[in-house]
Formats: sequence, structure tokens, C-alpha cells
Amino acid sequence: MSSNLSQSAKAPHILVLGMGGTIAGLASNPLDKPTRYQAGQLGVNDLVSQVQSAIPEGIEVFSKQIANINSRDLRDAHLTALGLAVQEALNDAQVRGVVITHGTDTLEETGAFLQIVCGYEAHHSGKRVVLTGAMLPSNAPQPDGPSNLLDALRWASTEIDNCPGGIYAVMDGRACMAMDLAKRHAHCLNATIKDSPSSSVGLINPSWLAGVKSVQALWHEDLPVPDVSEWPWVEILTCHAGARPETLRHWLDSKVEGLVIAGTGNGGIHADWLAPLKDLLTQGIALVRTNRTGAGETLQDMPDIDPPSCLASGKFSAPKARIALQLAINAAKQANLAGKPLTWQDFFARIAVLPEIR
Ligand code: SIN
Repeated sequence: MSSNLSQSAKAPHILVLGMGGTIAGLASNPLDKPTRYQAGQLGVNDLVSQVQSAIPEGIEVFSKQIANINSRDLRDAHLTALGLAVQEALNDAQVRGVVITHGTDTLEETGAFLQIVCGYEAHHSGKRVVLTGAMLPSNAPQPDGPSNLLDALRWASTEIDNCPGGIYAVMDGRACMAMDLAKRHAHCLNATIKDSPSSSVGLINPSWLAGVKSVQALWHEDLPVPDVSEWPWVEILTCHAGARPETLRHWLDSKVEGLVIAGTGNGGIHADWLAPLKDLLTQGIALVRTNRTGAGETLQDMPDIDPPSCLASGKFSAPKARIALQLAINAAKQANLAGKPLTWQDFFARIAVLPEIR
């Protein structure tokens, strides 16, 4: 479904893609219990209509519903559909920017996905793609969705202090690179952005902007959006006290193609996992080591803990590393089909080793 909300064909277009989430949620008893609600109830047209009177003049807003789900149920097929819709918008000369309304639970996965498959094109076309969502359902007494959507529309549509094209997220009055999103609180309004390097949307922080530009300067390509049937199966396993070898042996002879291990401390792996891990690596499984602390980079090349051929996740948390590994495995397969002898490690290393934004 696609609809234009006013008639001028000449004004720049902002495309709003709806994925669902709490921003489109409805509580059955909003005054008493606004935290009990169903996500993904209102259409993206309704969300845009709620803020229509405050949309800056001269902007044409179009909307398209890609999905209307609780983002905990996000599937590979949703990401394929979203990635293709964003690519199409980036290639459309009439579209100035894109806003995506999305649930916050897996916003960080979608942020990493879009950076990896569209970050280069967004930067080079000078267009901003802006993810947003809400922590309160749309009929709560003071919902945060409308102000987040308006901030995202402004961020996607205006010249902001030399801020380049790219994949961003806007929540609770702050903006960050979408790949830096991380949901770090179950309820608070800034849950997805509170620990991310970010800037106020009103007054851009110059050192944050310099950091964004330094990441973008190292971003040289977009990886392919996998077809729905092409997504490799990659799982996350968390290491913990009392870890058992059976947890890893379970995956021997399965169809799983990659594992992300969320290790202890700086990404440590329990001694009882090392022997079955060796067997999985012999079987050809792709392995990425990350950490379960919730913050801090997982450093590359730690010979005492890196099993052979394993890569560290760098800045990526386990959920983001999982998406990155899926896309790197798929990119290597596509490259091999085209006769290029590249590995998943070639692609993963390019996207995980990046400067830190402060
Ligand atoms: C969801 O992720 O769809 C539900 C939770 C939220 O949007 O905050």
C-alpha cells in the first residue's frame, strides 16, 4: 500500500516505511495500564496522519507498510523486504529521505542490517534513512511516538549542519548512527539510544559528527540483501559458569552455518567448550566471538582465546554480530558464485573493525 498525503508533485518526498512496533501499538486500558498493549495495530498512514499538521512545509510524505509486527517476531523475510524497499528509495531521484517506524526490541538488528546493505549508497546519494520507534503505545496519555516520528521526519528531510547521508536512528530527542543502536533498558524512553554515541537532534555535537564521518570514510561497499531463501542459519550462544560441552555438540551435523559466541569478560570461552568448538570448526562452521557484558569492543587477535579462523565482533554486540555474520556468509557465497575466492572473514572484518565514535 502506498499513499500520498498531499498533492504537489514537485516537493521533495520523504518515504515512511512502516514495520509495526509499539509506536503503532494500542493499549486496551491506556489510562490505567499503558504498558499492557498490542504492538503493530495502527497502519503507518495513521501514524503519519497523527503528525500531519506539524510536518515542516514543503515536504511531501508518502507511506508504505512493509510489515505490522511486534519486532520480537522479526524474520529474515521482513529484513529482505525492508532492505529492497530502502534500496529502491535510495535509487529514486524523487525521494529525499526515508523514515522507518519500527519496534524497539530488535531495532539494533535492523539498524546493523541497513548499514551493511545500504550504508554506502545512502552516504553517496546524500540521503538520510532514519529509524524510529516508541516505548509507549500510541494511545498512552503522553505517547512518545509522535515526537519521535516528527524528529525523524525533520532529520530525514532537512539540511542539518553538514550532516551527511547515511543510516541513522532518532529516539527521545537524540540521533545516532543506526549501527550504534543498542536496547539497554526494558522500559525507559531512551532505552535504545541511552548508551549509544549520539547527538541531540536539535544541536549537532561536532565530535559526534566527526566520528560519523570517520566511520563513513571507511565504508566502501554494500553487501547484497539476501533473497528470502538465502539467509544463512546463524545462532547466538551465551557462555556462562557451568557451561556444558553438550550445548555445542548439539550443533554438530546440524545445518547451522555460523555461531556467535557471547563470551564472558572480553569474550572468553569456557574451557569445556573448546573441544566441541574445534569439531564445529572442522565441520566448516563460521565462528564470531563477542562478549556478553553489554558494552566495550571485543578485541581482535587474542591468540590465547581465539580459536583458529574465528573473528572478534569489534563494536558489534551479539545480535548485531549475528546479522553481520549472516550477511558476510551470504556475500562470500555470492562472490564465490561470481568466481571471486573471498571468504566470510574478508567481508566480516571490513564491517566490524571501525573507529569508535565518542
Ligand atoms: C516491538 O519491538 O515491536 C515492541 C516493543 C517496542 O516497540 O518498544
